[in-house]
Amino acid sequence: MTLAEKLVKDHRLTLEEYKRLLDDRDEETARFLAEKAVEVRKNLYGNRVFTRGLIEISNICRNDCLYCGIRRSNRNCERYRLNPEEILSCAEEGYGLGFRTFVLQGGEDPYFTDEVLCGLLRELKNRFPDCAVTLSMGERSRESYQALRDAGADRYLLRHETADETHYGKLHPKEMSFENRMRCLRDLREIGYQVGCGFMVGSPYQTNAELAKDLQFIETCKPDMCGIGPFIPHKDTPFRDRAAGTLELTCFLLSVIRLIHPPVLLPATTALGTIHPLGREKGIQAGANVVMPNLSPVSVRKKYELYDNKICTGEESAQCRGCLQQRMESIGYELVVDRGDVRKDV
Ligand code: 5AD
Ligand code: FES
Repeated sequence: MTLAEKLVKDHRLTLEEYKRLLDDRDEETARFLAEKAVEVRKNLYGNRVFTRGLIEISNICRNDCLYCGIRRSNRNCERYRLNPEEILSCAEEGYGLGFRTFVLQGGEDPYFTDEVLCGLLRELKNRFPDCAVTLSMGERSRESYQALRDAGADRYLLRHETADETHYGKLHPKEMSFENRMRCLRDLREIGYQVGCGFMVGSPYQTNAELAKDLQFIETCKPDMCGIGPFIPHKDTPFRDRAAGTLELTCFLLSVIRLIHPPVLLPATTALGTIHPLGREKGIQAGANVVMPNLSPVSVRKKYELYDNKICTGEESAQCRGCLQQRMESIGYELVVDRGDVRKDV
């Protein structure tokens, strides 16, 4: 039996086997895994692709991650934040377009205290009781995560970025720690969020050994969601001259992750659409099942630039949604607008 066949059968490999699967990968294995990944996803979710309306609420960040375009020390970044009023009106527009999940994403902006966020969450839940709200606002205390959950947040995305502590140290300033990242993910789980982790593909210093650890981490942690996309250099960061991650490896990993944990909600990310014009379509065809059209006001979109040449920065929300719907239909999938909760019954 090949390693790929073993993965399909057991939904797991050893650390050494994950590494070997990545080292020895070829087109034929990629095709085989994509076919199997699509098959298991179809058994659980049919040809439905879930949408989440992404609202980029602030690019002000107290952190200084070496890869990120909105890192604190980037003086060229024009900073903005949306106030609760503006966020609610983005959600209003999104609701009218059919969205039933909103993702509020932003840097670690001190303005968004528990008080401000809890007020916003209560208002969102009040106005749109049939919607799920996902937060993606970085590392906070357990008490804070609890308060936000109590105020109505349903899901939380916090990419682990890399499951290897040494590698984590090379991507982040020394004030940030792998240990705290893991603490956050544990707390979020225990508090009862649907939790998403994830990592960049092709980030600086990453080798197949680190990726094998990421896969093993997903195998043990079984996240409800997993965001993976290629690393793309940003011109105002220390990693400006590094190579971007590839479409090929990202799609391979999407298939593997789908097979490790079949019910996972797996987005075909904007970063994947940025490195290739059909990146998101190819991501879905490799096993992803979520897309996240941008609902941020057009006036701020270019400012939320985590990496160079980010797509979807000029389009109105309706255009962005329509564009993705067409793209999904062009490959035989249906864009669905319901909450799209993860299946827990399998
Ligand atoms: N390229 C790709 N993804 C990036 N992110 C941050 N910077 C980059 C980059 N240069 C990702 C990180 C973060 C998420 C919000 O965006 O994984 O968790
Ligand atoms: Fe860390 Fe932006 S500076 S994600």
